[in-house]
Amino acid sequence: MRLHNKVTLITGAASGMGRATADTFAREGARVVVADINDGDGTTAVKEIQAAGGQAHYVHLDVTDETSWTTAIDEVLGLFGRLDVLVNNAGISGTFDPDLTSTAFYDQLMLINAKGVFLGIKHAAAAMARTGGGSIVNLSSISASIGQPGVHMGYGASKAAIKSMTKTASVHHADQGIRVNAVAPGMLPPMRTSRGSADPVWRAKQIDAVPMKRAGDVQEVADVVLFLASDESSYVTGIEILVDGGLTAV
Ligand SMILES: NC(=O)c1ccc[n+]([C@@H]2O[C@H](COP(=O)([O-])OP(=O)(O)OC[C@H]3O[C@@H](n4cnc5c(N)ncnc54)[C@H](O)[C@@H]3O)[C@@H](O)[C@H]2O)c1
Repeated sequence: MRLHNKVTLITGAASGMGRATADTFAREGARVVVADINDGDGTTAVKEIQAAGGQAHYVHLDVTDETSWTTAIDEVLGLFGRLDVLVNNAGISGTFDPDLTSTAFYDQLMLINAKGVFLGIKHAAAAMARTGGGSIVNLSSISASIGQPGVHMGYGASKAAIKSMTKTASVHHADQGIRVNAVAPGMLPPMRTSRGSADPVWRAKQIDAVPMKRAGDVQEVADVVLFLASDESSYVTGIEILVDGGLTAV
């Protein structure tokens, strides 16, 4: 098993890619902590993982709230005595608010997508340093590197912040045995909060620009997150892996 007994905390694991990552980690023997603000779907995820023979535990975690982070990590350390892997996956879509010049939406995007990751790295790295290291995987996006019609500037800015924090944190924490990497998905199933990017006409145009001529599947992202979380990537830090069917290679 590729994550045998590793203690892994995944934010936003109640749905989408976070949920697929939680299922994948559990199949690979991890002790999975499902963390989300959606307590209903989060506890359902835990029950389903346990029913499939996996090890899972739910914590309520609002990634924007520093006290919520310290409480969640204290709970994990109290239960398991260590934290080996953090996946900073929680986020909101850049096409949630149709007003692409909304200042309030800019602030919300930066708060959840960027500050949430900053707080996660800060508190997880402190815990990991005490037990000899770990792996942090951040969910960025192709929007960190390219412009897309209909996507709020704040989304790209928040994801570019993640790409940058990944590099800086990888350098800061390398001597503590903590690796920090990012995964940047392209066209995936729409996020729960998507409005514009959930539109079939918008999606068809975007998918037509993908060299592989299809959207990705959540499992295809979860498998890359698994590689970066596991010891198979032991000499990999500070990078971003694009999972985009070649969209940004054109
Ligand atoms: N789906 C895509 O097309 C796509 C593409 C590129 C990158 N991404 C990124 O991948 C990640 C996962 O996306 P997804 O498609 O699975 O989205 P999703 O909407 O299905 O899941 C996001 C999860 O984050 C949780 N969440 C939201 N705010 C939170 C908060 N403050 N604290 C804790 N949890 C919170 C939600 O409850 C939800 O369970 C996001 O960071 C997203 O930006 C998605």
